[in-house]
Amino acid sequence: MEAEPGSGAGLRPAGRPRKEAGARRTAGWWRRKSLRFRLTAAASAVLAVALAVSAYVMIGVLGQALIATIDDSIYQRAREIVSQADAGQVPDELASPDGVLIQVIDSAGRITHATTGTDRLVPLLDAAERSAAIAEKRARFLHGGPYGIPHMLRVRVLSADEGRTVIAARPFSEVETSLRTAGHVLFVGTPLLLVLLAGVSWVIIGRTLRPITALRRGAEEITGTARSRRLPVPESRDEVHSLATTLNAMLDRLERADARQRALVSDAAHELRSPLASIRLQLEVALGHPGGQDDWRETAEGVLEDTTRLTRLAEDLLALARLDERGGALARREPVGLDDLVPQTLERYGGAVVFRIGGGPAARPGDPAGNGSRAGDPIVVAGDALDLGRVLVNLVDNALRHTAAPVVVELRAQGADALLTVTDDGPGIPEADRERVFDRFTRLDSARSRDEGGAGLGLAIVRETVNAHGGAVHLEDASPGLRAVVRLPLS
Ligand SMILES: Nc1ncnc2c1ncn2[C@@H]1O[C@H](COP(=O)(O)OP(=O)(O)OP(=O)(O)O)[C@@H](O)[C@H]1O
Ligand SMILES: [Mg+2]
Repeated sequence: MEAEPGSGAGLRPAGRPRKEAGARRTAGWWRRKSLRFRLTAAASAVLAVALAVSAYVMIGVLGQALIATIDDSIYQRAREIVSQADAGQVPDELASPDGVLIQVIDSAGRITHATTGTDRLVPLLDAAERSAAIAEKRARFLHGGPYGIPHMLRVRVLSADEGRTVIAARPFSEVETSLRTAGHVLFVGTPLLLVLLAGVSWVIIGRTLRPITALRRGAEEITGTARSRRLPVPESRDEVHSLATTLNAMLDRLERADARQRALVSDAAHELRSPLASIRLQLEVALGHPGGQDDWRETAEGVLEDTTRLTRLAEDLLALARLDERGGALARREPVGLDDLVPQTLERYGGAVVFRIGGGPAARPGDPAGNGSRAGDPIVVAGDALDLGRVLVNLVDNALRHTAAPVVVELRAQGADALLTVTDDGPGIPEADRERVFDRFTRLDSARSRDEGGAGLGLAIVRETVNAHGGAVHLEDASPGLRAVVRLPLS
């Protein structure tokens, strides 16, 4: 009976919104309760229903079983009397050792035999009832009141020869007593059992949730200052255990990233200090000794040199920050022809760099003969031309700083990769340091590179850029000298 949309809320039954609001309030109340309470309450409710149903079924089954026992006993006794009657051997005094009452009635409707204490004048069932009971072939209930018996009776009627009938009856009171006792036990026992089970659930659920509470407390204690704290990991190998280990791994990563960031900031500050101090010193000296025009020119040149260093540092830091920001992904991915990009980039070095492509003969960059030596297909990778140009410049700058002979740059396709190598004949790098130099702010000969070199960010930028392109870079011995090998997947 949902009201049609637009037909107006006035048509809706008044009780409904109030009922809905009540249900919402109950749902809200339930959701605000603790997990422990909700789990225990839900488990107890299910248990209560299960216990009630099983008590009901149990009483039913017990009753049926007791009735069947009584019916069986009166039937056996009736059969016994019928055979005695057919043989004409019914004893005058019928005993009732198992509490079964017997009446033997002749064809005229008179009681000929009866157990002691049983009415000898009035049959328990009249003639019509007797024949109906015989036809039914099973026991039936009978009120004992009219015959001075204060209970319900189970009665079975069998026919014997010569129109006689045998009535066997047994009070139902024993069954009633048994069922009542069982009912009492269940009525008291079931709630007790329920309370016990609810208590056990409460305790077990509390124990299960304890590690989560511990996790929460642990998380509360982790602050910006106590960074190396970890969450408590429970011994059990369960969901909470894997949650705790996962969270700890996350904390570990965050801590490492944080440490890296701090180191970067402090290294950067350190690198900024010396050119700034140098600028300041030069300006102070110039101001303190106001000389001729030449002095100022010298100062300006010195300051310009330091400013250039600062600019390069800022650019390198920016490049690294961009790489970090993108988390190892590329800002742009377009086809870059290395066979064009590399010679173009090398043009600025003139004769200091020799370029070879596809293993062909050497050519000076910008030399038209270089184009003639091209062998095979164009070498194209997917990526950012600006970033790849910077990789080459950083490697060539390093090589030129250490070499005496011209630096050799080679480019060729090898399998699914483009292979770019930069070789010099300088002092090389000892094997133990060849990985370390890729770290940020790592310089091997700091005295020398303070004048000529930069901050030690060049190779870090190379590696992170190449990795972002899905490639790899390493340094190897070129005896004499060093060879930087860059491998980039061809597109
Ligand atoms: N071709 C090379 N031969 C010998 N040593 C090298 C060579 N290339 C790099 N190195 C060493 O590795 C160190 C790190 O190189 P990287 O390019 O990262 O920094 P940098 O050149 O010192 O400074 P930046 O590149 O930031 O201007 C250098 O300081 C140098 O000691
Ligand atoms: Mg460098």
